[in-house]
Amino acid sequence: MVKSLSTLEALFAKKTPKSAELYESGKEFMPGGAMKSLGYNPPLYMNRASDCYMWDVDDNKYVDWINNACAMILGHSPKGVVEALDNIVHNGIVFGAPNNFEKAIAEHITKRIPSIERVRFTNSGTEALMNTIRLCRAYSGKPKIAKFEGGFHGTTDDAEVSIAPSIDTAGSDEAPNAVPEYLGINQSTVDNVVVLPYNDSEAVDLILRENKDDIAAVLYDPKAGNYDIPHEFVRFVAEKCKELGIIFVMDEVKSLRVAYGGYQELAGVDPDLTTLGKLVGGGMPVGAFGGKKEIMDMMDQTKGYKMSSGGTYSANPMTLAAGLAHMEGATPEVYAHLKILGDRLAKGMGDVFSKSDIPVQILHRDNITSAHLTPDPVRNYRDILKFDKEMRRRLMLGMLLEGQYARELQEMTVSSPMTTATIDDFLGALEKVVHDKG
Ligand SMILES: Cc1ncc(COP(=O)(O)O)c(C=O)c1O
Repeated sequence: MVKSLSTLEALFAKKTPKSAELYESGKEFMPGGAMKSLGYNPPLYMNRASDCYMWDVDDNKYVDWINNACAMILGHSPKGVVEALDNIVHNGIVFGAPNNFEKAIAEHITKRIPSIERVRFTNSGTEALMNTIRLCRAYSGKPKIAKFEGGFHGTTDDAEVSIAPSIDTAGSDEAPNAVPEYLGINQSTVDNVVVLPYNDSEAVDLILRENKDDIAAVLYDPKAGNYDIPHEFVRFVAEKCKELGIIFVMDEVKSLRVAYGGYQELAGVDPDLTTLGKLVGGGMPVGAFGGKKEIMDMMDQTKGYKMSSGGTYSANPMTLAAGLAHMEGATPEVYAHLKILGDRLAKGMGDVFSKSDIPVQILHRDNITSAHLTPDPVRNYRDILKFDKEMRRRLMLGMLLEGQYARELQEMTVSSPMTTATIDDFLGALEKVVHDKG
């Protein structure tokens, strides 16, 4: 049996007094005391990181399975990225003018992801989505966007609909309601969002057909390593969009980490537009969006600034140089290494849980792995709701106490400095926590 929640919380508090102090004092200056609390309460404040390790402000060492929300693929402070940043830092940092990294990284992206013929840069994945949504409306002349229930596309109003709605507001399985995620989102925005269910081709067909004259684009979050969605499903959605004259947008902000050419390469789809972020910045804030030139060329300012994706720091040299170094370092060989590690992790976690009485679904896509604490298959957002919240927290705290920063065993990622020994250490720790061999 896993230790009780109260025991684990007491042990965690004893190990992390400086985090608790920062949290208490920070509350005076920031709502909630910290930005990225990620369910740790009090939050865990990190101080430094190197390779696949992080140290908190109490100098506890952790193996990092989160990698800044899946962004870092080469671990912390990879050499090429540090050299690229070092060079820019001494040469002006940022200029209000085009710079010589733009073409290089744009060329890299278009060669790496063949569906992207032209690309633009922003400061976050959210901004990439924001610009993409507007571009789709402008290109199609249609007002609405469609997204999947449970899909996440950043924090712009149009995207923050039906990410994790309460089940009493969410409507039927086949025709989910559009539910604003937060207060302050206008009803007029919500009215322009159509919500689709994952893994239900018949329902998707019906909803898209009924709304095809109003829907500019379908945004698709692959939920890689999170929901069990066969490739046939995304191929179906992409084909349906083509048939009905709807722009198909693949959101690869996170999923570019699962394959060299992104999830679209794994699934064999050719999206009209793709959004990117995270690993494309190599640790610097970034977003990018791109795709077919007939759509992207609406952004061409030489044709009269009908569409803009401006921003003081958009395409800044630090981000682009770090991003290019990170992307060039994330070679197909690195992806192959990560897949070996990810497969070993997922299989090992399954083995550990199978010897316990904790029901679990291990969801795994190459180098992203989640352990959902539910006995039933996880095919959509509603299936996730059934998980055991208390056990999830107990496992999270237990693993933190073992020096494993694995959040709630959700969207765990491997990085290139890891080896099979890193995986086996994690599995040993999990075994210890699950069977309370402490
Ligand atoms: C699929 C997806 N789209 C968009 C975003 C938003 O990116 P950002 O956090 O850079 O705004 C995220 C962030 O996690 C994401 O996972």
